[in-house]
Amino acid sequence: MKFGILTGGGDCPGMNAFIRAVVRTTLNARPQTSVWGVVDGWKGLLDNNFSRLNKLDVAGLTSRGGTILGTTRVPELATDMDLQETLARNLHDNGFNYLFVCGGNGSLKASNALNTIARREGLRTKFLVSPGSIDNDVCNTTGSSIGFYSALDKSLEMLEWIRDTASSHRRLYLVRSMGRKSAYLALYSGIASGAEYVIMPNEDVDYEHVATVIAERDKDTRIIVSESYPKSLDEIRTTLESIFAHRGIKREVRSVDMGYFQRGGKTSVTDILRASWIGYRMVQDAFNGCESGFYTAYYTGHSPAPMPLEEAAADEASYDSIPQEFIDFALALR
Ligand code: F6P
Repeated sequence: MKFGILTGGGDCPGMNAFIRAVVRTTLNARPQTSVWGVVDGWKGLLDNNFSRLNKLDVAGLTSRGGTILGTTRVPELATDMDLQETLARNLHDNGFNYLFVCGGNGSLKASNALNTIARREGLRTKFLVSPGSIDNDVCNTTGSSIGFYSALDKSLEMLEWIRDTASSHRRLYLVRSMGRKSAYLALYSGIASGAEYVIMPNEDVDYEHVATVIAERDKDTRIIVSESYPKSLDEIRTTLESIFAHRGIKREVRSVDMGYFQRGGKTSVTDILRASWIGYRMVQDAFNGCESGFYTAYYTGHSPAPMPLEEAAADEASYDSIPQEFIDFALALR
């Protein structure tokens, strides 16, 4: 048997734990199996760039953020069917029986496209996909993505740091949170840190109301702004400053972007254990000759049947629009 591992999309904490789990589980159970990392993600698959992994290559990785294999986005993969065909053939020609993927919704869709080609054309490679993205934007109906809770830990810590200065100077801080399409990271950061307000991507913000919320608080105030809200932090700041001036509210406004800091650093224990468990379960399934599938609702010790890739790839609604109950939850705690 020959296995490949690919990390795709934006890197996230937990990818290294996943890689380690696949390599160790495979080589401990069947040392004759060869395990290869695809170097630089989908781009590496196009270039046939593979690196053989042994048990020592993955030592010391459980909590390390990022991905040791690298990841390069190939946006054309979403629509370019010739490219999809080339990648599916590359996997087959290189003799891979399974490709173990950890990545965001783009990687899930790419895996599904390649799997469709592979099944249609009788190619040998099957695809086992786990959700890896701090945005929590990979088929959330059945679970959260690996990396999300690690990014929340970072966000909470940063929001506590900002609270110190916000409180000392009686300032309002506008804090931008990552989340390209999905606002889960912004919303949950707001809930966890006790922020005064979270501006959601498509929200028609009533800034007079926001100013009232801020005015009611004594000193430290923070507003989280989700990445895909179209106004810049400077525009929001100018709007609020003019309302404050008009209403005689004495509050300085500053802004900061948590951005890439949310994505890096140590992996949370939850993400380490979950990424490891999924990797472990996938390898066992592969040794049993399983079909392609998506592994998401897994937590340690819990293994529901994997979801068909086409079903998982079709799920957009679960991360595009956040259920009202989560928003009510945030509002109730404000
Ligand atoms: O990992 C997802 C994400 O963090 C998005 O929130 C963000 O828009 C994107 O990655 C930016 O990543 P890059 O600039 O590395 O492509």
